[in-house]
Amino acid sequence: MIPKDTIEQILYYARIDEVVGDFVPLKKRGSNMWGNCPFHNEKSPSFSVSPTKGIYKCFGCGKAGNSVNFVMEIDKKTYPEALRYLAAKYNIHIEEREVTPEELVAQSEKESLRILNTFANKTFQHQLWETDEGKSIGLGYFRQRGFRDDIIKKFELGLSFDDRKGFTKEALKKGYKAEYLVKSGLSIRPERHENVTELTAEHLFDRFAGRVMFPIHGVSGDVLGFGGRILGNTKEVAKYLNSPQSDIYDKSKILYGLYYAKKSIQQEDFCFLVEGYTDVIAMHQAGIENVVASSGTSLTIEQIKLIQRFTNNITILYDGDAAGQKASERGTSLILEEGMNVRVLLFPDNDDPDSFSKKVSPEELKDFIKNNSHDFITYSASRISDEAKRDPIKKTEFIRHIIDNIALIPDSISRNVYIKECSRIVDLDEQVLSLEVNKIRIDKETRKQKDKNKPFNQQQNQTPNVQNESSSPALINPEPPEVVDERQATLDMFDAIERNISRLLLKYGNNLMDIEHYTQEGELATMQISVSEYILFELFHDELNFVNPINQLLLDEFVHQLKDDRIPNEGYFVHHVNPAVSQLAIQLTAEDHNLSENWAEKYGILIEMEGMNIKKTVEQALYIYKDKRLQGMIHELKESLKDNDNFDDVMMTLSEIKKYESFKARVNQLLGRTIVR
Ligand code: CTP
Ligand code: MN
Repeated sequence: MIPKDTIEQILYYARIDEVVGDFVPLKKRGSNMWGNCPFHNEKSPSFSVSPTKGIYKCFGCGKAGNSVNFVMEIDKKTYPEALRYLAAKYNIHIEEREVTPEELVAQSEKESLRILNTFANKTFQHQLWETDEGKSIGLGYFRQRGFRDDIIKKFELGLSFDDRKGFTKEALKKGYKAEYLVKSGLSIRPERHENVTELTAEHLFDRFAGRVMFPIHGVSGDVLGFGGRILGNTKEVAKYLNSPQSDIYDKSKILYGLYYAKKSIQQEDFCFLVEGYTDVIAMHQAGIENVVASSGTSLTIEQIKLIQRFTNNITILYDGDAAGQKASERGTSLILEEGMNVRVLLFPDNDDPDSFSKKVSPEELKDFIKNNSHDFITYSASRISDEAKRDPIKKTEFIRHIIDNIALIPDSISRNVYIKECSRIVDLDEQVLSLEVNKIRIDKETRKQKDKNKPFNQQQNQTPNVQNESSSPALINPEPPEVVDERQATLDMFDAIERNISRLLLKYGNNLMDIEHYTQEGELATMQISVSEYILFELFHDELNFVNPINQLLLDEFVHQLKDDRIPNEGYFVHHVNPAVSQLAIQLTAEDHNLSENWAEKYGILIEMEGMNIKKTVEQALYIYKDKRLQGMIHELKESLKDNDNFDDVMMTLSEIKKYESFKARVNQLLGRTIVR
């Protein structure tokens, strides 16, 4: 763990122009620096860096962020990785937080498992390359399958011992603890020895005896586990054995080959997904390196997110048979739901990429892949048979399937593109298709809300996703709410107004404004307070928490600072240690102007010349917010009346509604006073 004050220090020292300057040549123009955006292709510079604000922003592709975001984005680093990179650049020593004894044990256990796996990996390779048995049997096997020596070396393939205790004995002799041999799964302890305290070779045997070995690397190259394959093709024993779950090996979070593929995935901006170890290796041999395997398990959401760190595009390669297609079905759903693009490629006649690659030249393989991979959704649609076209029941069934898939896509623009395209392919009215897709989405949304069973104003599940937020235009510029999805539209509206208030808080928090108040003697007087005090006071006075938790987070942090007699400025939040807060601040700062226009248009927020009369601007923002919130509360109360037969409850609710309505009238009156036309 990197301690908080070190993070603060890193954020303080990491100058945006220097950090970006390492990757992008920048030229000074005005108070900003400009260069060609590294995140999209462009000829003339629209990528700006503001040293004073500490942020970058591309006016072409919209990406924006602070130094840490830049490093994360350009190098596909995680948040802590980016911090470490910056710490190294600025010679900031990271004093790792002191770990608790339990953490220490867990840490050193993991470390021990890693060290043991490294040893095993070396040993298996030694067996393959340096022993007679290895050379004849092991290498013989790989070569007979057509793998080149350089590829066998690159993937660190190996051979286990034929002797049932060969590896266990060797490892114990070298001083590795029996406990870790069992935990790593390299050795197996039969149940009858379960209670033995002093484990020796007598109680253990090798998991992988007599198999060729495929080490499985984590993203950064550590050997986390192994797959072992029998040498022949007998049906008596499992063809592949894999390491069991352990503290370092979780098969649902690992993709075979990712370590070797990550660079190419980034360069090509897409990733092939295959089934097996040998498919990955064969494709590398043919010069295709952006490929990973889920290794027998069905694709998990964690694996998809792992790929998403490097690209948004996946092409699934699978056997042409029905089983292969079925297996990939669940995978495609998950990928679509993550907002990624899926293409599919069918191999002919029960070939997998490995076997197919052996029948053709590398060039032919590449051509085949290029010519036969299709966008998953439009391809599914195009496979409507002539029979189904004529048979209404079959056609309905077929279309239902396509609709289900389109409905998974989070982005409404992509959904619409698919709806258009598919309506053309299957010859069905676009509006009908669109209506059905929306129905499914609303159903799902309603179910989600019910599951959560939370009150309305605590909804909004925008959890801070550090990696994506910076590049997500959806947050900066909320999509036009779909007419049908009323609830989401309301949430979006609250979010927009809350963000407007937060923006004012950041931009004008330090400014002073006059407010009227009654003195103890009952006389009307004016006094000056800061804009931030005014805003926070108004919100707290009415016990209003922001609907969107991220907006609330920023508010809380503001209060926290005010309590210490500091009025924090934009810079403080842009460089905030909590990435969710800094993200929000960056968006608010970067999108200032743009956003205002959008809000004005969409939500009737008037910000014209806001700087001229800050008091009016702020009052107006708050009154609009209160008005809408009251309206929401009144609506909720009215809804709750619908299925309530209890007389007392109903009376109570009615009087509450009355109360809120009178508040609302008062707010409207105040609002009327502030609107200048
Ligand atoms: N697999 C497994 N256990 C098995 C069979 C398969 O873990 N008993 C996993 C392996 O990761 C394997 C993948 O599923 O690579 C795909 O299985 P399959 O298509 O049967 O194997 P191939 O990759 O074709 O293996 P080979 O070419 O060596 O026969
Ligand atoms: Mn195969």
